Formats: sequence, C-alpha cells, structure tokens
Amino acid sequence: MATKEYIGVALFGVGRIGRIHLKNLLANKRINLEWIVDQFPDAAETVLREIGANVKVTSISEIDNVLKDSRVDAVVVCTPTDSHARLSIQALNAGKHVLCEKPLTEVTSEMRDCYDAADQSGKVLMAAFNRKFDASYRDMYSKVKRGDIGDIHMIRSTFRDTPLWYGADTLSQTFLCHDIDIVTWFAGSLPVSVVCFGSANYQEIKDKKDIDCVVVMMKFENGTIGVLDFNRYSCYGYDIRLEVFGSKGMLKMNPLLQTTVQEFTKAGQKDADFCVSFPDRFREAYVSELDHFVDVIQGKTTLSVPREQCIRVGIVLDAIKESYNTGKIVYLQES
Ligand SMILES: NC(=O)c1ccc[n+]([C@@H]2O[C@H](COP(=O)([O-])OP(=O)(O)OC[C@H]3O[C@@H](n4cnc5c(N)ncnc54)[C@H](O)[C@@H]3O)[C@@H](O)[C@H]2O)c1
Repeated sequence: MATKEYIGVALFGVGRIGRIHLKNLLANKRINLEWIVDQFPDAAETVLREIGANVKVTSISEIDNVLKDSRVDAVVVCTPTDSHARLSIQALNAGKHVLCEKPLTEVTSEMRDCYDAADQSGKVLMAAFNRKFDASYRDMYSKVKRGDIGDIHMIRSTFRDTPLWYGADTLSQTFLCHDIDIVTWFAGSLPVSVVCFGSANYQEIKDKKDIDCVVVMMKFENGTIGVLDFNRYSCYGYDIRLEVFGSKGMLKMNPLLQTTVQEFTKAGQKDADFCVSFPDRFREAYVSELDHFVDVIQGKTTLSVPREQCIRVGIVLDAIKESYNTGKIVYLQES
C-alpha cells in the first residue's frame, strides 16, 4: 500500500456523478486532482469554468498517457457503466488504485475479472456503494451488529427513485445494487432463496417493455427475510428508507428531508420536501466515501466494500432476473 501523504488522482467522466466527485476531489486535502478525462473534453472544461477550478483536461484517446503519468496514483471512474470494467482493469494493470462508480459492471463474471486484476496488481479496487458511507445506514448497522434489537427477523429496504431516468433497465445493477448490497450486508450472507415480482405502471416504461414497480423477497439461512421494494419514479421526491425488525425491537430510518423545518398553520402541519435526488440525499456520504478510499490506499483501514460482497450483489441480481423471467423461486448457495 502507498503511504504517500497526497494521492494523485485522474477522474474519468464528468457527468452527473462525476461532477459530485470532482468537487469532493478538489476539496479533499489529501488529494491532488491531476487529470480529468472525458469523451467530451470541451464539456468538461465548461464544468471546470463553472466551478472556477483549473485541472488539466484530456480526451479518452489520451487515457494511456494519463495512466503512464507517475503523479497519478489512483483513478476515479465515473463513465457510463458499460466502460467501467474495461477502464478499471486498464487502470489497475497500469498500477493505479481504482474507485469505480457502481455498478462495477452488469456482468457478474466481469466483477471477478476486475478483482483478479486488483489482486494481481496489489492495488485497491473500491466499488462506490455510497449508502455504506451514509450516517443513518452506518448507525443502523452498528446497532444491529451490537445486538440492540436482538435476532433479526426482517430487513426491508425501500427505494423510490426520481427523476424518471432511462439509462438502464429496472432489473439491473444500476438500479438495484444499493438495496441488494444493504440487505445482504445487514444479513451478512447470500440469501438461500430469492423471488421477484414486478409490474409496469407508466406508459413510457411499458413502451420500453420494462417494469417500474418491483418487490424482491429473499430468505437467509438463519430465517431472516429480506424485502426490497423499488419504484422507478416517485412523484413526491427521492425516498430512501430502511427498516430492520428484530426480537428486541425495530430500527427505522426515516426519509431525509431537505431541511428539518416543520410548518404549522391553520391548514395543518407540513414537513419540508423530500430530497430531490441522489446529489442532495447522499451529499455527505460521497465525501466520506472518498475519504475511505484514501484511507484504504494509505493503509489506515480495510476496504468496507470487499470483493465477496460486491460479487454477492451480482449473484443476487442474477437470481432476481431469473426469478422474474421464470416466475419461480431461485435457490442459491454461498459457494
Ligand atoms: N453512486 C451514485 O449515487 C451514482 C449516481 C449516479 C450515477 N452513478 C453511476 O455513475 C456512472 C455514470 O453515471 P452518470 O449518470 O454520471 O453518467 P453521465 O452520462 O451523466 O456521465 C458520464 C460522463 O462520462 C463521459 N464519458 C463517456 N464515455 C467515456 C469514456 N470512455 N472515457 C471518459 N469519459 C467518458 C461522458 O462524456 C460524461 O461526461 C454510471 O455507472 C452510474 O450507474 C452512480
């Protein structure tokens, strides 16, 4: 592991999530942002001008030169999903640590290829499961592991997304990986059985022969039931919640609202609006996620999103798709 005080970073892709990481990379005192690489360098320059930052920008055709730059210790991959595995492996083979946006890939076997490349290079490969760095999820996880609510009977993860975005199918890592990760992280294992139901409610989703309303049930060996409910579009805002029920009580995460202000008038009581989407709901989590990446590179801690967990998420998603397509329960084994 490197013990350098400053980590030189190249950022690949400055779209929706790349802009969030860009600001956090610039603000992180342990990071020097050396390069930005984007398919559209002019657009990346515009983003930099908007935020008043000065970083060298280059196009994807120059990736080899960026990866040869000895000042670059690590790469943050924020390009579209279908390029993640290829770019991550390329960067790992060039001796760079990689923080790759979720999902690492939509193909479970490619996840193994990515982690094999990390093992061979001895570099860190971190898949960016940002919910793991959110204060509420961490608080609930430590309470569950401390035994505060006894034996766990049910874990229920709710995700109602907004805006309606067409970048991937609903039964994909892109949409479901966070909830699968959270349920299996809390349960601590792969489920033994998985079943999925889904339906389409919006005409534009029906036209794409996709679904927008999904329920997944998972049973774990110790009897714990995991439930994942997902809606592709929520008209009232970005609604992310987790509930864990156990023999000694329940832990319930309320949705994070834009502010804590409640209004009381003759018309009644009104809370602040829900968060608009991931940038405001997980603002702090993205900062902590980046800090964790640097801590792991500097050998201060171990990866909180290890290989087995990332691959476990891939295996469960494959089972969800199989169950939805066949209408059957899919049985799994940890091996
Ligand atoms: N963790 C989260 O909360 C979160 C949120 C949103 C998106 N994501 C993930 O981040 C990834 C990117 O999503 P997005 O919504 O930001 O996409 P986007 O389309 O908004 O941005 C992608 C950017 O990458 C650039 N690009 C495309 N191909 C490239 C290449 N080969 N090399 C360099 N740059 C390239 C594009 O020009 C664009 O600037 C997806 O995998 C998505 O699942 C994660």
